[in-house]
Amino acid sequence: DMMNDIMGLSTLQEKVREKLGIKKVLLVPGSYDSNPSLIKDVAKCGAEYFLSILKDEDVVSITGGSTMFEFSNTIKTDKKYENVTVVPARGSMGKDVEIQSNNVVATTSKKLNSHYKLLHIPDELGEESMKTLTQEPQIKNTLDMIAKTDILVFGIGIAGEMAIRRKLPIEKVEEIVEKGAIGEAFGHYFNEKGEIVCKLNTVGIHLETFKNVRESIAIFAGTRKADALIAMTNINKNMVLITDEESANRILEL
Ligand code: G3H
Repeated sequence: DMMNDIMGLSTLQEKVREKLGIKKVLLVPGSYDSNPSLIKDVAKCGAEYFLSILKDEDVVSITGGSTMFEFSNTIKTDKKYENVTVVPARGSMGKDVEIQSNNVVATTSKKLNSHYKLLHIPDELGEESMKTLTQEPQIKNTLDMIAKTDILVFGIGIAGEMAIRRKLPIEKVEEIVEKGAIGEAFGHYFNEKGEIVCKLNTVGIHLETFKNVRESIAIFAGTRKADALIAMTNINKNMVLITDEESANRILEL
């Protein structure tokens, strides 16, 4: 019955939280693997948690991707956060405008009635162009804001797939995978232990900022990403995880 299901889910949450050693785990019942539309419920659960901890004056950094796109769409509040600033955690990449961090930021900010800043710079650039562009006042201003992140909300990627989505040359993709990268988050490729195995010339949130944010909220759905999430929790234990029930069970199996 329903009461039993709820008890079961909260027991599972606690088991996963304990295994990962992180702050909090929130689960949505069901399986994303067999029902991909569950991503909307997972995103909604993430959005509700986010609103519950958001303070007016916070700087909020958000990544791109389809999960975060759903997150921004599902935010619903009547409050106006006039002192909040939303920024992209990364520069832009690829062709898909809809799931770019800039677009996710604009949607989120509109929902919150907050300020926002965009990062009009490709995520990967040659060293020289990167140096020049990051000194442009507008870009520098956004990067300085990102360094002040209070809340980071991010999606988890599978290393090889993200390297391809970022249109890295095939040699680079192979190198990343050969070096043992399994996961990707905000432009960092990390191995099972959470060690960064590949430092690309990217722009956005620094690892040190990530380790010191007040709240970091990881949102993912799908058992394929379970090992990448586990690896991620080796970088920062101050994390809240939002996922689906089956992915949570997979985390316990690994
Ligand atoms: O950075 C990209 C995300 O971490 C993963 O993207 O939500 O589309 O799977 P996704």
